[in-house]
Amino acid sequence: MIKIMKANESHVEGIARVCTEGYWATYGDTHSKEWIERVIKDFYNHERILKEVTISNRDWGGYFVAVEEGKVIGAAGGGMIGDEVGELFVIYLDPTRRKEGIGTKLLDAITKQQKEEYGAKEQWVSVQKGNRKGIPFYEAKGFKFQYDKADPEYPAYIKLRHSRKI
Ligand SMILES: CC(C)(COP(=O)(O)OP(=O)(O)OC[C@H]1O[C@@H](n2cnc3c(N)ncnc32)[C@H](O)[C@@H]1OP(=O)(O)O)[C@@H](O)C(=O)NCCC(=O)NCCS
Repeated sequence: MIKIMKANESHVEGIARVCTEGYWATYGDTHSKEWIERVIKDFYNHERILKEVTISNRDWGGYFVAVEEGKVIGAAGGGMIGDEVGELFVIYLDPTRRKEGIGTKLLDAITKQQKEEYGAKEQWVSVQKGNRKGIPFYEAKGFKFQYDKADPEYPAYIKLRHSRKI
């Protein structure tokens, strides 16, 4: 059985693993090794994740995890970026566990948190242009493309901003 829960310190290792493996599986074909390694080092290191599972506030609602038989198979987190505006900041699964509905369950947990605790009425997400594993998921969830933005340091990499009403 898959359980969706708020993450705690015992999930740090598993979150780092799914985010690292998920990141390589998602961007390995389209983005440089240097870029991927930098993102993983900055965002998915143990020290940072340990802090991010112990904090939960308006700006960062903490990590949610999908756990099966004690193993983390997915992780996601979000926060509020405006009065009634939430954002999904991160969502990754064990790459072998896509398209089983786990991403939907994680997104639903974050959406519930943002609506019930913080009054969100709208939700945003950023996704890299060309991410064929992420964009169709967001479209299936009712997100619509709004605008794009180049990474100032890596202008070839374009970030797409999507939003939906929640
Ligand atoms: C994006 C991700 C979290 C989605 O989770 P998931 O568990 O695979 O998605 P679900 O099974 O809940 O799918 C929900 C819907 O999206 C659709 N969908 C998901 N991925 C899809 C894809 N690559 N192509 C087409 N449709 C897709 C499903 O068919 C389903 O549609 P339905 O509701 O009409 O049946 C997961 O695929 C993943 O980890 N992808 C790689 C990482 C990534 O891109 N993260 C986002 C970075 S911004």
